[in-house]
Amino acid sequence: MNGVTVIKHPLVQHKLTIMRCKETSTGSFRRLLREISTLLCYEVTRDLELTMKTIETPLETIESPVLEGKKLVFASILRAGNGLLEGMLDLVPSARVSHVGVYRDHETLKPVEYYFKAPEDIAERLVIVVDPMLATGNSSIAAVDKLKERGAKNLRFLCLLAAPEGIENFRAAHPDVPVYTASIDSHLNEKGYIVPGLGDAGDRMYGTK
Ligand code: URA
Repeated sequence: MNGVTVIKHPLVQHKLTIMRCKETSTGSFRRLLREISTLLCYEVTRDLELTMKTIETPLETIESPVLEGKKLVFASILRAGNGLLEGMLDLVPSARVSHVGVYRDHETLKPVEYYFKAPEDIAERLVIVVDPMLATGNSSIAAVDKLKERGAKNLRFLCLLAAPEGIENFRAAHPDVPVYTASIDSHLNEKGYIVPGLGDAGDRMYGTK
């Protein structure tokens, strides 16, 4: 699918299978999410530009590659996005973090925004928007709308699972934002859950219902 990358790394697929199992405990789910998010972060950043920097090793002076440009922004769609954030920050500890509070009204399935924080100079940074589930796409579209309003120009969207309907809606609204996911599942059910999915990611991660 155009603009969509499915991350097929065997470790990602193995961990995802365990996360999907309904018997997997809250603690294991959280640990796996943190581990898998590190691997997803590795894939979503694999083509970042490098620039050469002069450094001194204990033996000699060399030109050595470092990431070009300003530090990344990880934009977490609350609350489940925070589950992906932790592992990504393990890998890129200097990243800036934006929080976008959008919840899904369970009746209308439409996003309701309640919180927004982002770095001032977001226009100059690559923004990786994270939410484990791309379901209807409504929350993700609203979050990216908001980040673009604030000036973000260079964005990527990273999730764990995506529904075909969500990808279609998201790509129609934001064709300039590539999507990275570990799986494209079958469909959305009438309640807006991804099938076969893994249930409610926030509830599974925090042990709520
Ligand atoms: N959000 C979730 O947490 N799970 C779904 O299946 C869909 C949206």
